[in-house]
Amino acid sequence: MPKITFLGHSAFYMEGSKGRIVIDPFLSGNPVAKMKPQDLKVNFVLLTHGHGDHLGDAIEISRTNQAPVIAPFELANYCASQGVTIHPMHIGGAHNFPFGRVKLTIAHHGSSTPDGTYTGNPCGFLVTMDGKIFYHPGDTGLFYDMKLIGEMNKIDVAVLPIGDNFTMGVDDAVKATEFLNPGMVIPMHYKTFDVIDVRPEEFVNKVKEKGFNGQILSVNSSYEF
Ligand code: NI
Ligand code: MN
Repeated sequence: MPKITFLGHSAFYMEGSKGRIVIDPFLSGNPVAKMKPQDLKVNFVLLTHGHGDHLGDAIEISRTNQAPVIAPFELANYCASQGVTIHPMHIGGAHNFPFGRVKLTIAHHGSSTPDGTYTGNPCGFLVTMDGKIFYHPGDTGLFYDMKLIGEMNKIDVAVLPIGDNFTMGVDDAVKATEFLNPGMVIPMHYKTFDVIDVRPEEFVNKVKEKGFNGQILSVNSSYEF
């Protein structure tokens, strides 16, 4: 049974019977994170886009764990230029890794690194481990293709940004939940900064009113599915 652990903001650690990954490991300088990059033991690092609150400590974690970075082509090449091993992919493509399967989905957002390097299109991830599907959409606005993603994949757990301003806000994330029809939905990308200080309870209450399972994960707590 795979397990996800919320590391704060959009950072999730995920482990299954065949391996361990981290997605968007923004830990250093993250006001809500409790884990240090050196505490993470992973086989691969997945990045949705290059923004500092997602790229985070990816290079250091990748290097110290000898864990390749899985990311959209342009961002992967940026990581390679920083001296780490990569597995470039792109939107619509899937690949079977030792730990499980990864498919890249669209995300409506931008992607550049803190040093100003433009890193192409951002993405989301469908990660399948031990037969269970986890959807991490990265930073994105609401898009209608989420309905297609939900129709074509029996999503067991989805995490959705709810913080507004840079991504979907609460009501758009509720609509995204209706499109995706996940077994469980967990909010992310809120409260880290003043401008995204929204109430996750409001999101969870609204999805429950629509008949979905929603749950807030506190930092460093886990959900097994
Ligand atoms: Ni972003
Ligand atoms: Mn972000």
